[in-house]
Amino acid sequence: MEGHPVNNPDPALFRQGKSLVVAVDGPSGSGKSSVSREAARRFHAAYLDTGAMYRAVTWHCLDRGLDLTDAEAVEAAAKSVTIELSTDPDVESVRVEGVDVTAEIREPLVSTAVSAVATTLGARAELVRRQRQQIMDSNRRIVAEGRDITTVVAPDAEVRILLTASEEARLRRRGEQLQGTQNAEQLRRQVTHRDRLDSTVVNFQQAADGVVTIDSSELDYEQTVNAVLRTVFEVAH
Ligand code: DC
Repeated sequence: MEGHPVNNPDPALFRQGKSLVVAVDGPSGSGKSSVSREAARRFHAAYLDTGAMYRAVTWHCLDRGLDLTDAEAVEAAAKSVTIELSTDPDVESVRVEGVDVTAEIREPLVSTAVSAVATTLGARAELVRRQRQQIMDSNRRIVAEGRDITTVVAPDAEVRILLTASEEARLRRRGEQLQGTQNAEQLRRQVTHRDRLDSTVVNFQQAADGVVTIDSSELDYEQTVNAVLRTVFEVAH
Protein backbone atom coordinates (compact mmCIF):
# COMPACT_ATOMS: atom_id res chain seq x y z
CA MET A 1 0.00 0.00 0.00
CA GLU A 2 1.32 3.40 -0.95
CA GLY A 3 2.69 5.31 1.97
CA HIS A 4 2.69 2.29 4.28
CA PRO A 5 5.87 2.09 6.34
CA VAL A 6 6.86 -1.42 5.18
CA ASN A 7 10.42 -2.47 6.21
CA ASN A 8 10.24 -0.05 9.13
CA PRO A 9 10.66 -1.15 12.73
CA ASP A 10 7.80 -1.62 15.15
CA PRO A 11 7.04 1.92 16.36
CA ALA A 12 6.27 0.64 19.87
CA LEU A 13 9.89 -0.55 20.19
CA PHE A 14 11.54 2.24 18.21
CA ARG A 15 14.14 4.13 20.28
CA GLN A 16 12.91 2.59 23.52
CA GLY A 17 15.15 3.83 26.34
CA LYS A 18 16.31 6.78 24.21
CA SER A 19 14.81 10.21 23.85
CA LEU A 20 12.02 10.47 21.26
CA VAL A 21 10.38 13.88 21.28
CA VAL A 22 8.24 14.45 18.20
CA ALA A 23 7.22 18.09 17.79
CA VAL A 24 4.31 18.80 15.45
CA ASP A 25 3.14 22.29 14.51
CA GLY A 26 0.50 23.45 12.08
CA PRO A 27 -2.63 25.52 11.57
CA SER A 28 -6.08 24.45 12.73
CA GLY A 29 -7.75 21.86 10.54
CA SER A 30 -4.46 20.36 9.35
CA GLY A 31 -5.36 17.12 11.14
CA LYS A 32 -2.59 17.80 13.65
CA SER A 33 -4.40 16.69 16.81
CA SER A 34 -5.90 13.39 15.66
CA VAL A 35 -2.78 12.44 13.71
CA SER A 36 -0.42 13.31 16.59
CA ARG A 37 -2.58 11.39 19.07
CA GLU A 38 -2.52 8.31 16.83
CA ALA A 39 1.23 8.60 16.25
CA ALA A 40 1.68 8.73 20.05
CA ARG A 41 -0.39 5.54 20.43
CA ARG A 42 1.71 3.70 17.86
CA PHE A 43 5.01 4.81 19.42
CA HIS A 44 3.71 4.01 22.92
CA ALA A 45 4.53 7.61 23.71
CA ALA A 46 2.75 10.33 25.66
CA TYR A 47 0.65 12.90 23.78
CA LEU A 48 0.62 16.60 24.59
CA ASP A 49 -2.13 18.79 23.13
CA THR A 50 -0.77 22.25 23.92
CA GLY A 51 -3.80 23.94 22.33
CA ALA A 52 -5.87 22.36 25.11
CA MET A 53 -3.74 24.27 27.63
CA TYR A 54 -4.46 27.62 25.92
CA ARG A 55 -8.13 26.62 25.86
CA ALA A 56 -8.06 25.64 29.55
CA VAL A 57 -6.63 29.03 30.58
CA THR A 58 -9.24 30.75 28.39
CA TRP A 59 -12.06 28.75 29.98
CA HIS A 60 -10.73 29.71 33.40
CA CYS A 61 -10.55 33.43 32.53
CA LEU A 62 -14.10 33.37 31.16
CA ASP A 63 -15.31 31.45 34.22
CA ARG A 64 -13.78 34.08 36.50
CA GLY A 65 -15.17 36.91 34.37
CA LEU A 66 -11.70 38.31 33.69
CA ASP A 67 -11.16 40.95 31.04
CA LEU A 68 -9.26 39.07 28.34
CA THR A 69 -7.69 42.28 27.06
CA ASP A 70 -6.06 42.84 30.47
CA ALA A 71 -2.66 41.22 29.79
CA GLU A 72 -1.55 41.33 33.43
CA ALA A 73 -4.71 39.63 34.65
CA VAL A 74 -4.49 36.96 31.94
CA GLU A 75 -0.81 36.30 32.73
CA ALA A 76 -1.57 36.05 36.46
CA ALA A 77 -4.42 33.62 35.73
CA ALA A 78 -2.14 31.48 33.53
CA LYS A 79 0.41 31.33 36.35
CA SER A 80 -1.98 30.47 39.16
CA VAL A 81 -4.49 28.13 37.53
CA THR A 82 -4.31 24.40 38.20
CA ILE A 83 -4.58 22.45 34.94
CA GLU A 84 -4.61 18.67 34.83
CA LEU A 85 -4.19 17.51 31.26
CA SER A 86 -4.09 13.83 30.39
CA THR A 87 -1.05 12.90 28.31
CA ASP A 88 -2.32 9.36 27.75
CA PRO A 89 -3.27 9.31 24.04
CA ASP A 90 -6.21 7.03 24.90
CA VAL A 91 -7.64 9.32 27.57
CA GLU A 92 -8.89 12.76 26.60
CA SER A 93 -9.33 14.70 29.83
CA VAL A 94 -8.77 18.30 30.86
CA ARG A 95 -9.51 19.56 34.37
CA VAL A 96 -9.27 23.15 35.54
CA GLU A 97 -9.25 23.71 39.30
CA GLY A 98 -10.60 20.15 39.58
CA VAL A 99 -13.51 20.76 37.20
CA ASP A 100 -13.80 18.54 34.13
CA VAL A 101 -13.80 20.93 31.15
CA THR A 102 -12.89 18.40 28.44
CA ALA A 103 -16.00 19.22 26.38
CA GLU A 104 -16.42 22.88 27.37
CA ILE A 105 -13.00 23.96 26.05
CA ARG A 106 -14.05 22.90 22.53
CA GLU A 107 -17.14 25.11 22.52
CA PRO A 108 -17.36 28.14 20.19
CA LEU A 109 -17.23 30.58 23.13
CA VAL A 110 -13.76 29.33 24.04
CA SER A 111 -12.65 28.89 20.41
CA THR A 112 -13.47 32.52 19.68
CA ALA A 113 -11.80 33.87 22.82
CA VAL A 114 -8.66 31.70 22.90
CA SER A 115 -6.54 33.92 20.64
CA ALA A 116 -6.68 36.62 23.32
CA VAL A 117 -4.79 34.27 25.64
CA ALA A 118 -2.54 32.89 22.89
CA THR A 119 -1.42 36.44 22.02
CA THR A 120 -0.69 37.42 25.63
CA LEU A 121 3.08 36.96 25.82
CA GLY A 122 3.26 36.53 29.60
CA ALA A 123 0.66 33.75 29.42
CA ARG A 124 2.58 32.09 26.59
CA ALA A 125 5.82 32.14 28.58
CA GLU A 126 4.07 30.39 31.48
CA LEU A 127 2.45 27.75 29.25
CA VAL A 128 5.73 27.11 27.41
CA ARG A 129 7.33 26.50 30.82
CA ARG A 130 4.60 24.02 31.78
CA GLN A 131 4.81 22.28 28.39
CA ARG A 132 8.58 21.77 28.74
CA GLN A 133 7.91 20.27 32.16
CA GLN A 134 5.34 17.86 30.66
CA ILE A 135 7.93 16.78 28.09
CA MET A 136 10.43 16.07 30.89
CA ASP A 137 7.74 14.21 32.86
CA SER A 138 7.20 11.89 29.88
CA ASN A 139 10.87 10.88 30.08
CA ARG A 140 11.13 12.46 26.66
CA ARG A 141 8.96 9.93 24.86
CA ILE A 142 6.16 12.14 23.63
CA VAL A 143 4.38 13.60 20.62
CA ALA A 144 3.72 17.27 21.39
CA GLU A 145 1.62 19.38 19.06
CA GLY A 146 0.73 23.03 18.75
CA ARG A 147 1.95 26.15 16.97
CA ASP A 148 5.39 26.78 18.47
CA ILE A 149 6.60 23.33 19.51
CA THR A 150 9.20 22.98 16.75
CA THR A 151 10.49 26.51 17.29
CA VAL A 152 10.05 27.53 20.94
CA VAL A 153 8.88 24.73 23.24
CA ALA A 154 11.11 21.90 21.94
CA PRO A 155 13.50 23.13 19.23
CA ASP A 156 15.78 20.28 20.38
CA ALA A 157 13.17 17.60 19.59
CA GLU A 158 14.50 14.54 17.75
CA VAL A 159 11.82 15.03 15.09
CA ARG A 160 10.19 18.32 14.07
CA ILE A 161 7.26 18.33 11.68
CA LEU A 162 5.11 21.08 10.20
CA LEU A 163 1.77 19.60 9.17
CA THR A 164 0.09 21.82 6.61
CA ALA A 165 -3.01 21.61 4.45
CA SER A 166 -4.70 23.87 1.92
CA GLU A 167 -7.31 26.28 3.27
CA GLU A 168 -10.00 24.31 1.45
CA ALA A 169 -8.99 21.03 3.10
CA ARG A 170 -8.76 22.69 6.51
CA LEU A 171 -12.22 24.23 6.31
CA ARG A 172 -13.69 20.92 5.17
CA ARG A 173 -12.12 19.01 8.08
CA ARG A 174 -13.10 21.49 10.75
CA GLY A 175 -16.65 21.44 9.38
CA GLU A 176 -16.77 17.64 9.67
CA GLN A 177 -15.23 17.78 13.12
CA LEU A 178 -17.87 20.21 14.37
CA GLN A 179 -20.60 18.14 12.68
CA GLY A 180 -22.48 21.02 11.15
CA THR A 181 -22.96 22.83 14.46
CA GLN A 182 -21.71 26.03 12.84
CA ASN A 183 -22.49 27.81 9.61
CA ALA A 184 -19.92 28.41 6.89
CA GLU A 185 -19.16 31.94 8.02
CA GLN A 186 -18.59 30.96 11.67
CA LEU A 187 -16.33 28.19 10.47
CA ARG A 188 -14.29 30.39 8.15
CA ARG A 189 -13.94 33.00 10.88
CA GLN A 190 -12.80 30.40 13.37
CA VAL A 191 -10.27 28.74 11.11
CA THR A 192 -8.72 31.53 9.06
CA HIS A 193 -9.28 34.53 11.29
CA ARG A 194 -7.92 32.72 14.33
CA ASP A 195 -4.87 31.49 12.43
CA ARG A 196 -4.21 35.04 11.24
CA LEU A 197 -4.44 36.38 14.78
CA ASP A 198 -2.28 33.61 16.20
CA SER A 199 0.38 34.06 13.53
CA THR A 200 1.07 37.54 14.88
CA VAL A 201 2.93 35.91 17.79
CA VAL A 202 4.13 32.57 16.42
CA ASN A 203 5.09 31.54 12.91
CA PHE A 204 3.51 28.18 12.17
CA GLN A 205 2.87 28.71 8.47
CA GLN A 206 6.46 28.16 7.32
CA ALA A 207 8.84 25.46 8.40
CA ALA A 208 11.87 26.61 10.36
CA ASP A 209 15.30 25.18 9.48
CA GLY A 210 15.43 21.43 10.04
CA VAL A 211 11.63 21.09 10.21
CA VAL A 212 10.05 18.55 7.82
CA THR A 213 6.89 19.76 6.08
CA ILE A 214 4.09 17.26 5.49
CA ASP A 215 1.25 18.56 3.33
CA SER A 216 -1.89 16.58 4.16
CA SER A 217 -4.23 18.27 1.63
CA GLU A 218 -4.32 15.20 -0.60
CA LEU A 219 -3.83 12.59 2.12
CA ASP A 220 -6.48 10.81 4.13
CA TYR A 221 -6.10 10.22 7.84
CA GLU A 222 -4.28 6.87 7.60
CA GLN A 223 -1.91 8.19 4.94
CA THR A 224 -1.10 11.23 7.08
CA VAL A 225 -0.39 9.04 10.11
CA ASN A 226 1.89 6.90 7.94
CA ALA A 227 3.67 9.97 6.58
CA VAL A 228 4.37 11.09 10.17
CA LEU A 229 5.57 7.61 11.17
CA ARG A 230 7.88 7.41 8.16
CA THR A 231 9.31 10.84 8.92
CA VAL A 232 10.02 9.81 12.51
CA PHE A 233 11.83 6.66 11.36
CA GLU A 234 13.84 8.62 8.80
CA VAL A 235 14.82 11.52 11.00
CA ALA A 236 15.38 9.89 14.41
CA HIS A 237 17.67 6.97 13.61
O1 DC B 1 -4.99 23.76 18.30
P1 DC B 1 -6.13 24.49 19.00
O2 DC B 1 -7.17 25.01 18.06
O3 DC B 1 -6.74 23.70 20.11
O4 DC B 1 -5.42 25.76 19.66
C1 DC B 1 -6.13 26.66 20.46
C2 DC B 1 -5.50 28.04 20.41
O5 DC B 1 -4.24 28.07 21.07
C3 DC B 1 -5.27 28.61 19.02
O6 DC B 1 -5.73 29.94 19.05
C4 DC B 1 -3.78 28.57 18.83
C5 DC B 1 -3.24 28.61 20.22
N1 DC B 1 -2.02 27.83 20.40
C6 DC B 1 -0.82 28.50 20.42
O7 DC B 1 -0.79 29.72 20.24
N2 DC B 1 0.32 27.81 20.65
C7 DC B 1 0.29 26.49 20.83
N3 DC B 1 1.43 25.83 21.05
C8 DC B 1 -0.94 25.78 20.78
C9 DC B 1 -2.08 26.49 20.56
